[in-house]
Amino acid sequence: MKLAYFDEDLTLNVTRFQASEEFAATVQYIRQYTQATALPLRIADIGAGNGIAAVAFALMGFDVTAVEPDPSDTVGAGAIRELKAHYNLSNLNVVEAFAEEMPISSDYFDVVYIRQAVHHACNLNQFMHEASRLLRKGGILITARDHVVYNDADKTWFLQVHPLHKFYGGENAYTEAEYTSAINNAGFSIIEILRHYDSVINYFPESTSTISEKRAARQAYVESNFQRRIPLLFRTWSSVRSWYFNRAERQLGPVLDAKKIPGRLISFIAQK
Ligand SMILES: C[S@@+](CC[C@H](N)C(=O)[O-])C[C@H]1O[C@@H](n2cnc3c(N)ncnc32)[C@H](O)[C@@H]1O
Repeated sequence: MKLAYFDEDLTLNVTRFQASEEFAATVQYIRQYTQATALPLRIADIGAGNGIAAVAFALMGFDVTAVEPDPSDTVGAGAIRELKAHYNLSNLNVVEAFAEEMPISSDYFDVVYIRQAVHHACNLNQFMHEASRLLRKGGILITARDHVVYNDADKTWFLQVHPLHKFYGGENAYTEAEYTSAINNAGFSIIEILRHYDSVINYFPESTSTISEKRAARQAYVESNFQRRIPLLFRTWSSVRSWYFNRAERQLGPVLDAKKIPGRLISFIAQK
C-alpha cells in the first residue's frame, strides 16, 4: 500500500510522491521537452487516481486538470477534491470521466500525463485519440509505468501471479507494439520509449542507487574472477579483457533482466 501511495493519509501520499526520484525524473522530462520557462504549464493528468501527481504538479504552480472516473474518496476523484480543498488549490480542476470520452475542450494542454492508467484502457485507440485531442499542437504526452507483455503466454503469467488481479480482475497489459501503434495512430510522434530499466520512472520502488549497486556488484564479481583466473601477462591485453568480460556477461545473463519481472513497466514520451 505504501509503495502504491495508498496511505489513508492522503497528504502523506502526495508528500512522498513529491519527494520521489520518479517525480523528479518526470518533471525533468517535462522541462526538457516543453522547453518551458514560463509557468503555468497546462497539464492534464488522466486516470489520476487519488491525485498524487495532479496535486504535486499543482503545488509546483502548474495549471492542472485531473481526470478520474472513480468517484472514491480514498483512491479516486473524491480524494483529489479533498486534497484540492486541503491545499486550497485554485489551479486544480477535477473531472470525473473515463479517458475514452472526456468532457474537456480540445487543443488546450501543453502536457498530457498518464500514470499507470493506459493499460486499464477500455479502448486503447480511443484513449490515445482523446489524449491527443486535449493537447495543443506540439504538446507532450507522457504515459508512465504501464504493464508491458511480450505475447499472450507472458500476459497469462503476469495476470496469474499478480497479487490483486484474482480479487478484482481489473489488471491488464499490452504489448509494446500495441502501445506504439495506438500512440502513432492518434497522431503522435514518439520521442522516447523508456523500457523497464531505462528510467527510475519505471523501476521505482527500486532506486537509482540500488540499480547502480547491482551493476557495480556484478562488475566487481567478474573483475575478481578475471584477476584470479587470467595470468598477469594476459590481463594487460585489452582484447583478452573484453573477451573475458563479454563471455562472463553471456554466461551470467543480464544483471538486470526485465523479462523476469511479470508485467514489467514501460513509459512513452511523444509529441503531438
Ligand atoms: C493504477 S491506478 C493509477 C492512479 C494514478 N495515476 C497513480 O499513478 O497513482 C489506475 C487509475 O486509472 C483509472 N482508470 C481506469 N480506467 C480508466 C479509463 N478508461 N480512463 C481513465 N482512467 C481510468 C482508475 O480509476 C485508476 O484510478
